[in-house]
Amino acid sequence: MPSVDPAHVAIIMDGNGRWAERRGKSRIFGHRKGVEAVRNVVDACGRRGIPYLTLYAFSSENWNRPREEVRLLTELLFTTLESEALQLHENGIRLRVIGDLSPFGEKIDRTVREVQELTRANKNLNLTVAVNYGGRWDIANACREIAVAVKNRSCSLSEITEQAVAGRLSTADLPEPDLFIRTGGEIRVSNFLLWQIAYSELFFIDTLWPEFDESCLDEALKSYRRRQRRFGKSGKGL
Ligand code: FPP
Repeated sequence: MPSVDPAHVAIIMDGNGRWAERRGKSRIFGHRKGVEAVRNVVDACGRRGIPYLTLYAFSSENWNRPREEVRLLTELLFTTLESEALQLHENGIRLRVIGDLSPFGEKIDRTVREVQELTRANKNLNLTVAVNYGGRWDIANACREIAVAVKNRSCSLSEITEQAVAGRLSTADLPEPDLFIRTGGEIRVSNFLLWQIAYSELFFIDTLWPEFDESCLDEALKSYRRRQRRFGKSGKGL
């Protein structure tokens, strides 16, 4: 049984829209409330000494939502990242953004690079936010990089190993998630960190993201501590 808490927690934050609709509010109201839940969980992970937290904020598939929701959601995301940058830095949090930022334009790209640069040396918590991210996109990018390396002869066929792929994913400098949480009642992984969660413990909770608080995180951690992680071994002698 794992005696320690997970080093890396990854979360699909689902349920903002339903939370808002149940209150007769617009879906963006739910996403705004979701940002408060993000703050609480970042603080809670920091207090528990969990060094890596990765959040799925906008998936490659989220473009299929109504255009106005996409506009407001992406605006909320980037304005929050910008306005929270100093606070993150003061709290010793290192921010990384993973995903394809090319559709968002030069200004967003610069802002993200600046926040990443500002917080690069911070050690308290590694916060990674996935924006316009898809697990298949990540793996395809790694394959493309390997193909280029093979073509220019800096990589041979026998060097195409699991490590070679993992080292070219957008999470190359992060450990794999130990605990994968999805809120909002759906039991699926929705193209998040597909390669990286091969051996993660999965935890699904009905709570809608805006209501996910410290006690929900503790429930997930409690469940994690009860798991026997075998990584394909028999379980004897662990
Ligand atoms: C899923 O709920 C949630 C999202 C698609 C967006 C999550 C983004 C945030 C909470 C903002 C995060 C901000 C930062 C800075 C990390 P949904 O709309 O799919 O809900 P539903 O399933 O009830 O429709």
